[in-house]
Amino acid sequence: MSPERDVDTQVAVGDVVLPTPVMAAAGCFGTGAELLGTVDVARLGAVVTKSMSEQAWPGNPPPRLVPGDGGTMLNAVGLQNPGVTPWVERELPRLLEAGARVVASIWGRSPEDFAGAAAALAATAVPGRDGTGLVAVEVNLSCPNVEAAGDVFAHDAGRVDDVVRRVVAELGDLPAWAKLSPNVPSALPAARAARDAGAAAIVLVNTVIGMSIDIEAARPALANGTGGLSGPPIRPVAVRHIYDVHAAMPDVPVVGVGGVTCAAHAVELMMAGASAVQMGTAHLADPHAGIRCARDLRKWAARHGVTRLADLTGAAHGRAGRQERT
Ligand SMILES: Cc1cc2nc3c(=O)[nH]c(=O)nc-3n(C[C@H](O)[C@H](O)[C@H](O)COP(=O)(O)O)c2cc1C
Repeated sequence: MSPERDVDTQVAVGDVVLPTPVMAAAGCFGTGAELLGTVDVARLGAVVTKSMSEQAWPGNPPPRLVPGDGGTMLNAVGLQNPGVTPWVERELPRLLEAGARVVASIWGRSPEDFAGAAAALAATAVPGRDGTGLVAVEVNLSCPNVEAAGDVFAHDAGRVDDVVRRVVAELGDLPAWAKLSPNVPSALPAARAARDAGAAAIVLVNTVIGMSIDIEAARPALANGTGGLSGPPIRPVAVRHIYDVHAAMPDVPVVGVGGVTCAAHAVELMMAGASAVQMGTAHLADPHAGIRCARDLRKWAARHGVTRLADLTGAAHGRAGRQERT
């Protein structure tokens, strides 16, 4: 056992240096500022905001959330948000004041919408100082494209290329992280397209498409019909996509997200290839889950003689023969 204080918890996602690998995932920590006063956001690697569009968006009608067994959640919030500029004016300064590293998540209904949200951010957001501030923009490519009959951007490498290229062009020096969908046989075509279009990191994964039936009412439980499944059961789905993308593109930073509730889960995603992790649904039950996970990750490393958390990234590769699936 090595002492906890000797564990170097710092990790890098491309050029973005984080004091701990554990971040709050998009949509599960509000737009960031709601939890100030409850959570010391400076102790998280970063806070990812809920996805924001250029203009305010009302989201879907209720019911929008169906809690399930074992910490699962089915949601169809529909990307409700105040719009980029009001967020930059009202909430970003409070997050910066609290010492947070902030990753602004953006979405759009068309490639032009994404570019508009990125341009609004680039025009108004305050650059970070001392490693804090707006450190990256996460591009939520798992939302429906109105120009493609509602199919999500991330399911088509050509659309990923188009969106990421436009966003990168607007952002200047701010890194763009491309957040992809797990609802594909392989995330590799989209990940390659995002990398080639200039994304600084790939974020894997968003929610798994699902549906729940209200058996008393004999109708889908969510007003939207389908929703996104999150929480512990989707972790193997995330691990597999992270593993595959890291194996194919080991030089491209991956941020892992999906079913992390504790330090052991974070270690699993990192060993699969993630440089850092995000926690979503776990924060809905306990806003301190990420801070606890960051603390326990340090303890886990000390117990296992790991002196640098960054060394966990990809540690599971090359250790076992992997059979091709038939
Ligand atoms: C209520 C809710 C809202 C979410 N909103 C967003 C969002 O605005 N943008 C986004 O990229 N992902 C969103 N997500 C997906 C999470 O960021 C995360 O990718 C997913 O839930 C898997 O992680 P988890 O199992 O730790 O929750 C949302 C998830 C939930 C449960």
